[in-house]
Amino acid sequence: MAFLEWNDEAIVNHQAMDTEHKKMVDDTNKLYEYVISNKIEEANKLFQKIVDDLETHFGMEENYMKISKIPQYISHKLEHDRFYNKVRSLLTKINAGKKTITLDHLEVVKTWFYNHIKFNDRKLANFLNENNIK
Ligand SMILES: [Fe+2]
Ligand SMILES: [Fe+2]
Repeated sequence: MAFLEWNDEAIVNHQAMDTEHKKMVDDTNKLYEYVISNKIEEANKLFQKIVDDLETHFGMEENYMKISKIPQYISHKLEHDRFYNKVRSLLTKINAGKKTITLDHLEVVKTWFYNHIKFNDRKLANFLNENNIK
């Protein structure tokens, strides 16, 4: 069983969002493999990429929120900002040699990912689909 599963809990049925979420799932699963096999250098490098991709992904969703004028823009963006600041600050500590990625960090990511999709991204995807925004 994969660490993060690409299943109904993750899929939102909006193509652009699903494509990026699937990439995150795959990258996070690869990161999990690096962490459990103690490949620290590979893990750090991949984590850097994941954080950069996350910034791009949040930007894409926020752009969708603006063009669709979805009412939940502020609350959804706040969730992005909170999480992004958390992972960016972890990355800074890793790059400074003060921390390494642990399974506990990955568990936090897992919980956040499924909750965020459930309470934020799925609403956005449905709203985009209702308004025929691809
Ligand atoms: Fe998302
Ligand atoms: Fe989101």
